[in-house]
Amino acid sequence: MEKFGLPLPLDTPTRVSVARHPVHPMLVTFPIAFFLGALACDGAFLWTADGFWARCALWLVGAGLVMGTLAGLAGTVELLAVEGIRRRAASWNHFVVAVLLLAVQAINWLHRLQGVEEAVIPFGMFLSVLGASLVAVAGWLGGKLVFEHQVGVGGHGKD
Ligand code: HEM
Repeated sequence: MEKFGLPLPLDTPTRVSVARHPVHPMLVTFPIAFFLGALACDGAFLWTADGFWARCALWLVGAGLVMGTLAGLAGTVELLAVEGIRRRAASWNHFVVAVLLLAVQAINWLHRLQGVEEAVIPFGMFLSVLGASLVAVAGWLGGKLVFEHQVGVGGHGKD
């Protein structure tokens, strides 16, 4: 990786980890699955008009918010504590999209509390589609951090 034509030092170890396995990637799988699952449930509600699916979507958006916030906290500690992560523009791009995602899903959840089935069409569905798109962008940018910038990857000199 280069910045202004000069090599960017790696300096990207993980600080929030279990036996040097970063916690953030362990947690992000949950909000990704829950938010995409909520969109699938909205689709099933649209197809069947069965209120069960609308209730599933409400719970999945809520569970995604809880796990996404925990993942976000772990990621934010990494971002602030590790200079090599803080210095990379890709880290801040990922942070901004992830916070936007959590804000959209918080609105999605609060909106659904007003009336679980009535909330789905059209606004709940719109927010789920927007949320799923933001999951894709945040996930891709997170992958860029790991697979291109090698954030949290490798022993960084230890064994
Ligand atoms: C809100 C603040 C967030 C910050 C500051 C943040 C920061 C980071 C950092 C530093 C990494 C590199 C791996 C590590 O050191 O742990 C990363 C990876 C990643 N992040 Fe985030 N993140 C945030 C939220 C999220 C959310 C909400 C999602 C998904 C819904 C997400 C998805 C990912 C993914 C998929 C990776 C790649 C993991 C891998 O392939 O191993 N992040 N993030």
